[in-house]
Amino acid sequence: MTLTAPAPIKTWFGVGGGADLFAEPTTERELSALLAEHPDARILGDGANLLVDDAGVAELVVRLRGELAAWQIDERSGVVRVGAGASLPKLIHATVREGLAGLHTLGGVPATVGGAVVMNAGGRFGEIAEVVETVRALKRDGTPVELRRDEIGFDYRTSGLNGLVVTGVDLRLTPEQSTDDLRGTLKEIMAHKKASQPLAAPSCGCVFRNPSLPRDMEGFGVAGDRVSAGLLIDRAGGKGLTPASGAVRVSEVHANFFETGPDATARDIIELIDRVRELVARAFGVKLETELVIWRRTAAHAGDARSARTRP
Ligand code: EPU
Repeated sequence: MTLTAPAPIKTWFGVGGGADLFAEPTTERELSALLAEHPDARILGDGANLLVDDAGVAELVVRLRGELAAWQIDERSGVVRVGAGASLPKLIHATVREGLAGLHTLGGVPATVGGAVVMNAGGRFGEIAEVVETVRALKRDGTPVELRRDEIGFDYRTSGLNGLVVTGVDLRLTPEQSTDDLRGTLKEIMAHKKASQPLAAPSCGCVFRNPSLPRDMEGFGVAGDRVSAGLLIDRAGGKGLTPASGAVRVSEVHANFFETGPDATARDIIELIDRVRELVARAFGVKLETELVIWRRTAAHAGDARSARTRP
């Protein structure tokens, strides 16, 4: 396996810098050898929820391929054994074809399976945690570990897989479902997204996590309720907001999406993130946190979950 230097990092935003070093291991052995040399390697998923700073990153960036992106589906039992580098949308279609229910609720979520598990990808129709049985991973020193579902620490758009490199996942889906019904639900989910999200423009999905309300807030909910960050930004008047360069703007369709123009830079996006945060803090006293993962050259990086994933 060869190391490439330097290499661009492909993300859905289509902006930002590259990797000083890049590798695509195809087996656990190759991955383990890479971690021995580069324990601080960053794992690239589908780049769907990732913003790389314009300066790029110094650590080795790894994209899992081959065996680490393959799957076996047992359509009788509904058990799917899948490598972390596999494409979630492709796996969703393959499982629906076999009449397996469970992953179809993640229709329209672009991610690798590993990325989706690390950040418990999902939305109003379901989240991946619901069907995960076991996660296989390597510690940063190359030791393999296997975690059962109740050891993974899944929560809203997060997991306790921080610091680990996920290599594979066992999913348990529900067998013997009507393929037509599953396809129908998948279509409805896609139609909902098409109607409520700006899917055509380059974006990275939702930029912010939906926050829990710090107190009862009329028109939003009661203390502790998770409320749509898009709704808060919209009500604060954030739609169409743009930084000085005008190269990126808050979507008019769904305010938790940023749409980028051809000249956008990571700096523009980071500036807009700060402006939107300020706007919502001023309007409602609510602090927004990014769901988007940001890779920076200077940030201390310990392979934590929030620097190792992709999006819904
Ligand atoms: N709303 C507005 N204005 C906006 C955006 C939303 O009024 O600009 C309102 C909607 O009309 C709706 C409510 O807010 O009444 C909730 O909106 P939506 O159904 O779009 O859900 P969301 O909470 O904003 C979540 C996920 C999305 C996922 C959708 C649908 C997060 C941060 N977002 O959005 O996930 O696609 O549900 O399942 O959890 C992502 O994570 O990248 C993402 C796009």
